[in-house]
Amino acid sequence: MDIQFFNFIKHGDARGQLVAIEELKDIPFSIKRVYYMWNAGPEVRRGYHAHKKLQQVLICVRGRCKILLDDGTEKQVVLMDDPSKGLYVSNVMWREMYDFSSDAVLMVLASEYYDPSDYIRDYDEFLKFVGKEKK
Ligand code: TYD
Repeated sequence: MDIQFFNFIKHGDARGQLVAIEELKDIPFSIKRVYYMWNAGPEVRRGYHAHKKLQQVLICVRGRCKILLDDGTEKQVVLMDDPSKGLYVSNVMWREMYDFSSDAVLMVLASEYYDPSDYIRDYDEFLKFVGKEKK
């Protein structure tokens, strides 16, 4: 499976690190929405969906977590532990987020406004959407 990371430029000096992300330059879409999650306990596993249209870039700006990506054929687990790396998650990727460290903050840059009707929350429906339904 092709996992795409964006390596953002770190502007680091004695004062610390800084990363800037510009839409259509550092990531391939315009940013309509930003959200972030934190305080997820170690047993939490969330996500369990894909999207009809939404593209996202996930950045673990603090701490660590794992992302399971599933394109309907292959699954891959990505460790997120670097605030200068963005993980591209296309609409047709089933995703699950888990193993959050207690300090983890996972930020998401999204190409669309929040739209519950864009979610595919049923795994069989996802397989059908990507043309990989069980025969
Ligand atoms: P949810 O979709 O369950 O998160 P997950 O990515 O783990 O599946 O979202 C949790 C709650 O937050 C739900 O009530 C919907 C709300 N929400 C918004 O209002 N706007 C958003 O952009 C997002 C991502 C969620």
